[in-house]
Amino acid sequence: MPVINYIEADGTEYSVNVAEGVSLMQGALDNMIDGIIAECGGCCVCCTCHCMIDPAWSDAAGSAAADEAEMLEMVDNTEETSRLACQVKVTSAMEGMVVRLPESQY
Ligand code: FES
Repeated sequence: MPVINYIEADGTEYSVNVAEGVSLMQGALDNMIDGIIAECGGCCVCCTCHCMIDPAWSDAAGSAAADEAEMLEMVDNTEETSRLACQVKVTSAMEGMVVRLPESQY
């Protein structure tokens, strides 16, 4: 199970194991990490699972599909590596990934 490192807006860090195939959003919820709200439960319609992938893992995370990219346009303060965490499924290539969470979800 890859280790994913989540960093909340206040600097609080969590290193947790997330099974392959599970979304970054679900990995955060399962480990009671506050910086992911996930109001829609992962249906890609709420944008409350916004996260910023550390550039070192952006290739591993892949790029947003059209519907996700459209939703991200509605989010303030996005960065080049912004994703909706519900749309990023964990793979073995994500071992050690750093994911930062925005202040708006703190
Ligand atoms: S949980 Fe709603 S868009 Fe990701």
